[in-house]
Amino acid sequence: MIITIDGPAGAGKSTVARQLAQRLGFTYLETGAMYRAVALAVHRAGISPSDEAALAALLPRLRLRWQDGRIFLADQDVTDLIRHPQITELARQVADSPAVRQYLGELQRQIGQHTHLVTEGRDQGTKIFPHADCKFFLTASPEVRARRRWEELQRQGFSFTYEEVLRQQLERDQRDAQRSLAPMHPAPDAILVDTSQLTVEQVVDLLEAHVRRRLPVQGIALIP
Ligand code: C5P
Repeated sequence: MIITIDGPAGAGKSTVARQLAQRLGFTYLETGAMYRAVALAVHRAGISPSDEAALAALLPRLRLRWQDGRIFLADQDVTDLIRHPQITELARQVADSPAVRQYLGELQRQIGQHTHLVTEGRDQGTKIFPHADCKFFLTASPEVRARRRWEELQRQGFSFTYEEVLRQQLERDQRDAQRSLAPMHPAPDAILVDTSQLTVEQVVDLLEAHVRRRLPVQGIALIP
């Protein structure tokens, strides 16, 4: 069974997806971490994110692995390194590459073949798992999302102003929504959830209730 959670940065997808997966006993997949890990590898290799041939040559050598909520490049756990603002920006650029999208899309589908999955990103319900059993699209007002991101950056020790974070986020949202390949938009059959006024627990409760109402699908037992 596949559950997809898409939406813009700061809508709370990662936390919600992780907790929902935990409650259901499903595997959790954060596809943004995959794009970020590729961006880190691109940065390390000194490649331009628009050099499609260089990207295509790099991808098979990456040994990218998602395991238990952590992301690895070769055998190095890069889960924390990929949160750097420079990598955030590069990830957005790398995500425009057809080679990268195809490579990561295949990896994501492979993971979905072997396990019950809660997967989150921008294109999971539209492009990667169009036949998912349950689809959600999480949003929140731009101000709420920027505040959440700003608070996260503060905790990490970065001294951006709230206004800078809001401006960068609006730019990133616009580019994610307008990219020619796999632009971010809700799948027609996705349930829209505005998280602006909700706590994480309320959002997870809401999603879990939807999933359990639609299920049990034949032969799948959820954790009670
Ligand atoms: O969600 P997160 O901010 O970690 O994603 C990093 C970047 O990866 C986003 O800016 C977006 O451009 C890209 N992305 C994507 N498709 C996904 C997940 C992330 O294009 N499924």
